[in-house]
Amino acid sequence: MMASLTDLEGRLAGLGLDSPFPDVPAANALTKPIDIYRLHLASLIASTLECDVAAAYEAILTATDLTLADLAVVVPKLKPKDVKDIKEFAVELVQKLPTSPLYAVPYPDGVQLRFFFSQKTLPLLMLPYIRERGTTYGEDHAQGLRDPSNPEGEKKKVIVEFSSPNIPGEFNGTHLRSTIIGSFVAKMHECMGWDVVRMNYLGDWGKDLALFAIGWEKYGSEEALEADPLDHIMEVFHKIKADFQPEMDASKQAKNENKSTAEIESEGIFAQRDGFFKKLEDKDEYALAFWKRFRDIALAKLEPAYARLGVTFDEYSGESQPLQETMTEIEATLTASGVLLESDGSQIINFENHGNKGLGTVIVRARTGSSTYFLRDLAAAVDREKTHAFDKMIYVVASKQNSHFQQIFKTLELLGREDLAVKLQHVNFGDITGMAPHLKKTMSLGQMLDECAEIMQAEEAKLEEDGSEKQGEGEDDTAAANDEVGSDPAAVGGLLSLDLFGKRSHGYAFDKKRMAAEEGDSCRTIQREYANLVSVIAKLKGSGGDETGGGEDASPDHAVLQRDESIDLLRMMAQYPDVTAATFKSLEPHGLLSYLSRLVEASAAELDDDNAGDEDGAGPSSAAPEEDTAESRKAKLVLYESVKQVLGHGMNLLGIPLCDE
Ligand code: ARG
Repeated sequence: MMASLTDLEGRLAGLGLDSPFPDVPAANALTKPIDIYRLHLASLIASTLECDVAAAYEAILTATDLTLADLAVVVPKLKPKDVKDIKEFAVELVQKLPTSPLYAVPYPDGVQLRFFFSQKTLPLLMLPYIRERGTTYGEDHAQGLRDPSNPEGEKKKVIVEFSSPNIPGEFNGTHLRSTIIGSFVAKMHECMGWDVVRMNYLGDWGKDLALFAIGWEKYGSEEALEADPLDHIMEVFHKIKADFQPEMDASKQAKNENKSTAEIESEGIFAQRDGFFKKLEDKDEYALAFWKRFRDIALAKLEPAYARLGVTFDEYSGESQPLQETMTEIEATLTASGVLLESDGSQIINFENHGNKGLGTVIVRARTGSSTYFLRDLAAAVDREKTHAFDKMIYVVASKQNSHFQQIFKTLELLGREDLAVKLQHVNFGDITGMAPHLKKTMSLGQMLDECAEIMQAEEAKLEEDGSEKQGEGEDDTAAANDEVGSDPAAVGGLLSLDLFGKRSHGYAFDKKRMAAEEGDSCRTIQREYANLVSVIAKLKGSGGDETGGGEDASPDHAVLQRDESIDLLRMMAQYPDVTAATFKSLEPHGLLSYLSRLVEASAAELDDDNAGDEDGAGPSSAAPEEDTAESRKAKLVLYESVKQVLGHGMNLLGIPLCDE
């Protein structure tokens, strides 16, 4: 890894650049190569216009459309004095700016000056840079330091709470999205140097578990449990829910008619359920053993399914976890300050009394004396701050629970815990619609992944059929190499093509065609290009490189990379650390996905062109045979290895499995 800015300056001196980096705190040339260009350009501008170098740096933007430029200087941002016509001034500035080994001559475009990186120096700068940064290219560990000036010091700590399915209960679309997005959020924080605790907050406590316990007494079968645990748990749960429905309906009707529900709820399954839950809260031995037994069974099934997705947890917490004492303390504080009120036997908060009409009311403790989802969540936040001393906690939970989290955050403020409230963040997302309608009854994560694998197998078989009907020759047949259709990586790739595509807040339909599609931002295409790179690299390494003695030792001949395809790849890769930085800020995966898709397109163009060269070389052609030397192969090898590394890094952040390794 590049040790210091001085080393980097030394390297740049070799490219004909002799001025040291200006001191701009916002810049980080050691993690973002674009900042080398920005800083250099900023000092040229600052000395030409005699303006502040940091202001000049801020006026330089990374281009989004690489066909237009690599960087753009927004001239009005330089706030030039006594200038009447800013466009004219931009034209003059082009003439005044000294030439530089890092840039081609810029061109004015309205109020902007557009700069392309010099093709000549780009490979010389970028390839060693990416290589030296290795697997940390795109990462910025200083972001996660408590004290950024002390790299050896403590890291900031974040708890990412995600997935959090219920026991008993279906693993539904929101749990699936929470798992995918939560894992991404955790990885983004690691990428930025944070200490991350991945936490699964199981819904393993409360009325549903109690209802299930009543159902178990009635319908439970040890044999059926043994044969298919999750299936049988769901079967029992559905049966008891059906038995319970008439009582629920009666209670609802009473509520609608503004009558008390107390009587209805004091008998039948209501009473049995609430009785069991009370026992659980009172730590009754049988009730606790029941809870533990079914929690363990569910976990044993969940963990391998998470592994198929490439997801792990540091901690399986759950609604059983928050301490009774913490809850009691919270209630005492809320009662003392008059926030907690009694209503029809329950303890509630009316947020209207606290300037938040939109948040309505919430039940903190039920009439039965048992805790609620709300109270447990509140206590969990307080407990976790004590046990983990986190700097930030992120709840990755569906948008449906927006107001739940607003209520939690607001209540922490009412408790005088603004200090804690400001550390909490709800990262939300829209729901999946139309998910596997024929499987409406029960669905576990494992079943969901099986389902995805089947879909991918069928859809990709269809695509292949269509392809071979239409196909002329010369089509890419290396694509599917190493790539087992119907495998978990294919299933997860297909699933992620749907999940990561749009903004988090947008829901999506379970569209089989799109899962397998090769166009658009397709994880399948990304996986295939990665596999392709792996095999091309292996071939390059094997094909003569070593035998001619040119492999590892040859000094790369960068002239071979002066083609547009190679240069475009390098320009795109230079942007990668800026892409990860923006992704970390927004915690939106789609920008990174679309970046990877563009990189894959550029990589495919490069490889295609390269292959075409090889083929042409065999016959009469325009390809230059002198290009194929050990040195030129070495340069290509370094380029492809860089692309593979950047692609693999981004795939890992998004959770897209590599197909070949
Ligand atoms: N188990 C809940 C559900 O299925 C999600 C839990 C979200 N996390 C939280 N701290 N409330 O809806």
